[in-house]
Amino acid sequence: MTLLKAAQSLAKEKNIPCQISLEEKMGCGLGVCLGCAVEVADGGYEHVCKQGPVFDSNKVII
Ligand code: FES
Repeated sequence: MTLLKAAQSLAKEKNIPCQISLEEKMGCGLGVCLGCAVEVADGGYEHVCKQGPVFDSNKVII
């Protein structure tokens, strides 16, 4: 389990707010390569370089 996943899991378990930064997923940083897409809990994908890089931990699936 990665550190981010552990933080996400602990925050959910303790019901505390948590934000995670996913900048390591970025490629071009310009919205061109689509390499930074992350799945979100309510369906679909968001781009780390456009909607992030910081997300509510409950929002993204990592
Ligand atoms: S980093 Fe290339 S599209 Fe987001």
